[in-house]
Amino acid sequence: MPTILSISGSPSPTSRTARLLRSLDSRLTAQGHQVIPLDVRTLPAEALLHADFGHPEIVRATELVTRADGVVIGTPVYKAAYSGLLKSLLDLLPQFALEGKTVLPLATGGSTAHVLAIDYGLRPVLASMGPAHITPGWFVLDKHIEVGKDGGVVVDPTTREALERLVDQFSAALSGPYSAGVVAA
Ligand SMILES: Cc1cc2nc3c(=O)[nH]c(=O)nc-3n(C[C@H](O)[C@H](O)[C@H](O)COP(=O)(O)O)c2cc1C
Repeated sequence: MPTILSISGSPSPTSRTARLLRSLDSRLTAQGHQVIPLDVRTLPAEALLHADFGHPEIVRATELVTRADGVVIGTPVYKAAYSGLLKSLLDLLPQFALEGKTVLPLATGGSTAHVLAIDYGLRPVLASMGPAHITPGWFVLDKHIEVGKDGGVVVDPTTREALERLVDQFSAALSGPYSAGVVAA
């Protein structure tokens, strides 16, 4: 069973990005994947800011990345780019931490002016870490993510449809012939 690490890079305690990811996690779980959520904001700030590679929680986060077959990376767009919090974790990972993995990049933001933040900002950073595939990502407008009373999210139907298509594509790439651990005949 492929393992997926679902990383939210939002510092917000009421993060729309994290909630969106957790709702997509359920779809991936239903498709037979083991999904492990990781909210970077729960890692020790001092370890992230002081590049404490040896901190037990950073070591654990690194191991989770290493062991995963697929990684979903979600970030809010801040100042036209991915969050500094996400970068603080990526900078602590080994150079080729994503080697052989399938990666799905997602972003949430307040303005369509920054819809390309994934492609211009995040994608090159992820590509430098050696993934086998980066599947097509998506930018979700924050106003299209409504937080329900139970903490769950209701996503605008058109956006939800697009996201489900991308998640299914990511899921298929993970189980495909070129995924990590599958040797072509
Ligand atoms: C400090 C800050 C900077 C932001 N900068 C941008 C930006 O440059 N472009 C954009 O589209 N949205 C921007 N936003 C809006 C957030 O990206 C958007 O509300 C996002 O969904 C927040 O996600 P979160 O709840 O997971 O933190 C900014 C929000 C904050 C708090």
